[in-house]
Formats: sequence, C-alpha cells, structure tokens
Amino acid sequence: LPHVTTRRMLDMKQRGEKIAMLTAYDYTMARILDRSGVDAILVGDSASNVFAGHNTTLPMTVEEMIYHAKAVVRGVQAETRRAMVIVDMPFMSYQLSPEDAVRNAGKIMKEHECDAVKMEGGKVIAEAVKRITDIGIPVMGHLGLMPQSIYKYGSYKVRAMEEEEARQLIEDAKIIEEAGAFAIVLEKIPSKLAGEVSRSLTIPTIGIGAGPECDGQVLVINDMLGLNNEFHPRFVRRYADLSSVIEQAVKNYVDDVRSNSFPSEDESY
Ligand code: KIV
Ligand code: NA
Repeated sequence: LPHVTTRRMLDMKQRGEKIAMLTAYDYTMARILDRSGVDAILVGDSASNVFAGHNTTLPMTVEEMIYHAKAVVRGVQAETRRAMVIVDMPFMSYQLSPEDAVRNAGKIMKEHECDAVKMEGGKVIAEAVKRITDIGIPVMGHLGLMPQSIYKYGSYKVRAMEEEEARQLIEDAKIIEEAGAFAIVLEKIPSKLAGEVSRSLTIPTIGIGAGPECDGQVLVINDMLGLNNEFHPRFVRRYADLSSVIEQAVKNYVDDVRSNSFPSEDESY
C-alpha cells in the first residue's frame, strides 16, 4: 500500500492540510516525484497531449493507460511508495455502461498495483462510480472543464461562469460524493465556486485552475517544469524552464561531438 491512502486524504482535508498532486507518465519521473514528497501522482490521459502529441485526450486507450500506469507504479515502488497512484480512465472506457466501466476499471487495477481510477462527469456516470467503488476500487471524480468533452464545449474556456452550469456542478459534486468517490478534481472553474463546492463536500477537492480554496492542487508535470513552451494559461505556475535547460545541454553535446571533444580519454576504455 502507498503511504498516502484514500483515508489519509480525507484526514488531510479534515486537518486543513493541502494535498499536492502532479501528473507523471513514466518510471523516471515517477521516481523523482515520489522522492520529492508529492502526495499523489496522476497518470493522466493528458499523456495523449504531452506524451503522444495528440490535440485532445480522446485517442487514449485502456491499453496505453495501463502501459503508462505500470511504468509509474514501478517508479514509486523503486522509491518509498509514498505517493498514491491514480490512473485516468480514458474516453469511452466508462461511458457505455456501468458493466463496461467496471470491466475496464478492474482491468486497470488488476494489471498492476495502482491505487485508484479517475473518471470525468457528474450524474451521467454516477451509477458507474457507485458500481466501481462497491467492488472495492477507489474512484476520483473530475468536474468543471472535462477535456474528454471538449468537442461539446468547443473551447478550453473557464467553465461554470453562468449560474445554471454552476448549480449543476454543485449538484454533480454531491452526486459523485454520494456515489462513493474519495476525491474530486475541479478543473478551470471560478475560485468562488470551487470554494463553495469544497466546503459543501466531506471528500477533498483537487483544483487545477480552480483557485486556492480547493483542498489540494494538481498540475501537469510537463507544464509546471516548463517543458511545453506553447502552453501557458494563467493557472500554470512554471517552477522550472526545463525546455531551455535541455536545449542547451543538447546543443553542448552536439558541439562536443562535432569538435571531437566528446568522448575524452577519461570517458573511454
Ligand atoms: O489528464 C490529466 O492530466 C488530468 C489533470 C489535468 C487533472 O486530468
Ligand atoms: Na485527464
């Protein structure tokens, strides 16, 4: 078991301790994140964008998610296994029917030792969330901007600015909590609404572009490390400029190879 469990997350909320989550898609990064003390690692279907280069998260398959999840779980197992590992259920792996959702959640949990799955949606997926948690698989919800529904929205603009959608979101959060979810991601909604939802739930909310009143925060690792130069919405704080660091390192290597200064005698046998 990881050190951070669903129980621990609930305790953290009750004690007012914030939950720090980041995404990871591979073994090496997962090791660094676990070592750095992050509470939870999300194997996000954002892998579709930042790892595979697609425009949306829709192309991701269950098999691809499992491939990334296995690598990430090996990473935290190689360290202290402090962080909880949550795996996104990809588009169309849980929307068809509760039976299908249970089968795919089970498949993701069974192939390796991840700790939970995450699903986007409210009322529409409540039955699936209930069935999955009933058989013992922890579920994290995801409301607000749901990237798997991007073609319905038509843009990545802030969600729930209007009263009607805000009211629906508050209701959906309640429904997903009642269905058995242990936490809910709130993506790109007004701070005030996120605060209201957070206070109305017993389970923690994890925000991304949802302000400081959430019980925790999540960012896509590539964004916060500055690996993506093209993507900088206001909710991404850049903690490093790794694309420049890597670019400079590669330029130096190329120069050294061309000038025959790498490898040196010390670097040879
Ligand atoms: O796929 C992902 O990275 C996510 C987070 C942004 C919450 O769902
Ligand atoms: Na996702």
